[in-house]
Amino acid sequence: SDEELDTRIRAARETLGERAVILGHFYQRDEVVQYADFVGDSFQLANAAQTRDKAEAIIFCGVHFMAETADILSKPEQAVILPNLAAGCSMADMADGPSVQQCWDELSELYKDEPDDGRMPVIPVTYMNCSAELKAFVGKNGGLVCTSSNAATVLAWAFERGRRVLFFPDQHLGRNTAKAMGVPLEKMPMWTPRKALGGNSEETMREAQVILWHGFCSVHKRFNPAQITKAREDYPGVRVIVHPECPMEVVDAADEAGSTDYIRRAIADATEPTVFAIGTEINMVNRLASEYPQHTIFCLDPVICPCSTMYRIHPGYLAWVLEELVAGRVVNRIQVPENQQGDAKIALERMLAAKP
Ligand code: 13P
Ligand code: SF4
Repeated sequence: SDEELDTRIRAARETLGERAVILGHFYQRDEVVQYADFVGDSFQLANAAQTRDKAEAIIFCGVHFMAETADILSKPEQAVILPNLAAGCSMADMADGPSVQQCWDELSELYKDEPDDGRMPVIPVTYMNCSAELKAFVGKNGGLVCTSSNAATVLAWAFERGRRVLFFPDQHLGRNTAKAMGVPLEKMPMWTPRKALGGNSEETMREAQVILWHGFCSVHKRFNPAQITKAREDYPGVRVIVHPECPMEVVDAADEAGSTDYIRRAIADATEPTVFAIGTEINMVNRLASEYPQHTIFCLDPVICPCSTMYRIHPGYLAWVLEELVAGRVVNRIQVPENQQGDAKIALERMLAAKP
């Protein structure tokens, strides 16, 4: 039962004391968030994993790429544990090492004769939501990682050093961020392999400023401008805030776009009772609604819109990994292969230096 699980988790937690730290992403369900020592967005969680260096184990209540990041940034002797190994991210799976390498090889070939102006022809930038293999790829090739909270700072960093940016996996975060920085849409082609039918012309690729990958988030893809129109009709004066993983038309129709922590802060900082329509995952929106009863807060998507993989972290798994730790056993450890650690760490440290 829920009570039994609660008793077991609290008992194991108490026995472990400072030997373990539990980190949780904002999208985790309340039944899990209640046990977290720290809850944050991806940037804050990466930072927390790097700074909580006293704990022997970091139990990461989030998804696989976040746990991999924690493993890279924590000390080698610290074990990072993902309570359910099936908690992945469909967007992260949309870019794989061989496809990105093929793209990179084609781009390098295309730009190889350009005159040297001291900048690289392309800088690779990956959204945090990707495998450690791709983080290592960008680190090795002069690029870096970004999160939704520092994407603009990261793109500015990349534009200083490169004539173009290859941005993957999330086309929407890439497009929304570059557009807000003044990059015209026609200079943001979506990557197509050279041999693809109907692919981009060589001229388009030469003129490109940001080359986008075809990835997207299946949760944020559900939002659309009609939902915003309806929210404005139902609640004149409503403040619409969406996550930048939403399609461009949605970000354009909203009042503001920002990371999960940006959304949380916007609500926490509102001094007058306000109606907020939010375009992001439902567990987070519902939690904010109960934490801030002085405001009216609802999700733009009327049909429940959870991240199904975040939801795979159930308190039952948390109880299991904690009790195993008490018994001296580490289960579900996430260990990034040695040959990816160094380059991925370079890319992540550049990311942490690019403050939101
Ligand atoms: P944040 O970095 O905004 O927490 O986003 C993580 C994520 O996966 C959103 O879908
Ligand atoms: Fe991945 Fe989307 Fe879930 Fe975020 S909300 S973890 S991008 S599937």
